[in-house]
Amino acid sequence: MSKIRLGVNIDHVATIRNARGEKYPEPVKAALLTQKCGADSITIHLREDRRHIREIDLKLIKKKIKIPINLEIAATNEMVNIALKYLPNFVCIVPEKRKELTTEGGLNLNYNSGLLKKFIYKLKKKNIRVSLFIEPNINNISKSKNLGADCVELHTGKFCSLVNKNKNYKIIIKKITETSKFAKKIGLEVHAGHGLTYKSAKILKKVKNIKEFNIGHFLISDSIFIGLKKSILKFKKIIR
Ligand code: PXP
Repeated sequence: MSKIRLGVNIDHVATIRNARGEKYPEPVKAALLTQKCGADSITIHLREDRRHIREIDLKLIKKKIKIPINLEIAATNEMVNIALKYLPNFVCIVPEKRKELTTEGGLNLNYNSGLLKKFIYKLKKKNIRVSLFIEPNINNISKSKNLGADCVELHTGKFCSLVNKNKNYKIIIKKITETSKFAKKIGLEVHAGHGLTYKSAKILKKVKNIKEFNIGHFLISDSIFIGLKKSILKFKKIIR
């Protein structure tokens, strides 16, 4: 089995920073640590409302990081122009709704497909690897290929939610497996992401043909429990 690449999504470092309006924790510091730990890429989602990552973060990360940067963006002129300005190695086009807590589903490839095709063409012309974040089904794979994407990222939210609730996930994992197989057959690289935890990643890594995982929320959350002890001990030393 070939090694699955790990893309670490550091958006939620920025979420914590923004909650207080302070400069810390700095996403660029998290990106440097991620790189040091051997991750294969850094994923950041520059949302239209800038609720976590900001353009300055993208600029700093681009300046300091040597591993590939995977920029997630909505399919808008503004976002594509930002991508063309900073030239990340990878772009993943995602759907975006203002009121959602997180990216709730995959792209609707029937909507504005002409514009999507134009954006993909523009990005690829600058040697940016383009991926489309989609729900796992065969129809979406064929459409992604026709639009000119290099890769697809399968939205694993529904699968992960079933795993978290200890419910039967057989049907959805079968769908992910079949979709991945078809995507590979027609020349699309397959990635997966959204909601992954240790448990769901362990199950999903057995699906053939998935080359890359993008993991954020759980990974940043769990780092609290891996690191909190050290921070408390450091504070105790300072104040006692
Ligand atoms: N992949 C894509 C395309 C995403 O939009 C997100 C969430 O921003 C992720 C992966 C990471 O999801 P999570 O933070 O739930 O691990």
